[in-house]
Amino acid sequence: MDKKALQSLILSEKKQRDTVILAHTYQAPEIIDIADFAGDSYALSVEAQKYDAKRIIVCGVRFMAETVKILSPEKTVILPVSQASCPMADNITPQQVIDFKEKHPDYVAVAYVNTTAQVKAQVDVCVTSSSVIKIVKGLEQDKILFLPDGNLGAYVAKHVPEKEIVIWDGCCPVHDGVTAQDVIDAKAKHPNAVVAVHPECKPEVVEIADMVGSTSEIIKYAKAHEGEVIIGTERGVVDYLEEKNPQGKYIQLRADKLTCKDMKITRLQDVYQSVIGISGEKIEMDEDLRIAAKRSIDNMLKYGG
Ligand code: 13P
Ligand code: SF4
Repeated sequence: MDKKALQSLILSEKKQRDTVILAHTYQAPEIIDIADFAGDSYALSVEAQKYDAKRIIVCGVRFMAETVKILSPEKTVILPVSQASCPMADNITPQQVIDFKEKHPDYVAVAYVNTTAQVKAQVDVCVTSSSVIKIVKGLEQDKILFLPDGNLGAYVAKHVPEKEIVIWDGCCPVHDGVTAQDVIDAKAKHPNAVVAVHPECKPEVVEIADMVGSTSEIIKYAKAHEGEVIIGTERGVVDYLEEKNPQGKYIQLRADKLTCKDMKITRLQDVYQSVIGISGEKIEMDEDLRIAAKRSIDNMLKYGG
């Protein structure tokens, strides 16, 4: 079946089956096309609560589907491909957070939303790349443990110097692969271009960029910019911009490095099979875990909104 026919089938089946499809902007363009909503991690978690449908298919990675389940427990939440996981999220255990808090009871634990439900259950507040500065600034406490992204942590520490921030030693292997030399080389090839990067990139990359922001913020900036924009985040963002705003000029920074295999593992066929119920993983969560994890997400929505 060709792409268009499969897309039409998904659209009609999802309607009949009271299902909505949410997609992170890093997903393949043919998936974004049939999604009811596409956005960054923060927007997905907010948007998921607005739908009445009894089933939500989350095209992204596991922590995104878990976040939707935490906020909408009455709904059936499906992750189309079980292996779609975030290596950064999987690199920290809840026990490590418990151990830190036991040793440092005066610290408030702030977690990037790219964490497992078990880790979310141990922290005080979650943040996304678009809400992190506002949330950390607004916290009453001055001593903060920021996890699990060290690059995002360094970005926050720079913007909120008045707080004492202990930064976890973790990273997104996709964004962390970009070097300052990659940016210098791209600028030499495109001297009139501006550079927009995600704060998951290394501090020395962020330092020489013209703009730093979450996926949605980069999209907004690139759409508004008249000339060429070098995009320093996962390549799905350039695909998205080229489709939604074809008059713009976008240059992908290091496409070889900025491809997240976990975000790209979901294919249109997987989405179709999830819609008709023959594959995909139904997210199940123990109620005590869900309630504990929800506290930190509720705090994110409360302070970051
Ligand atoms: P945002 O959606 O918060 O920009 O995060 C990027 C990312 O790496 C998601 O996995
Ligand atoms: Fe995780 Fe990075 Fe992939 Fe996002 S881009 S899912 S943070 S590995």
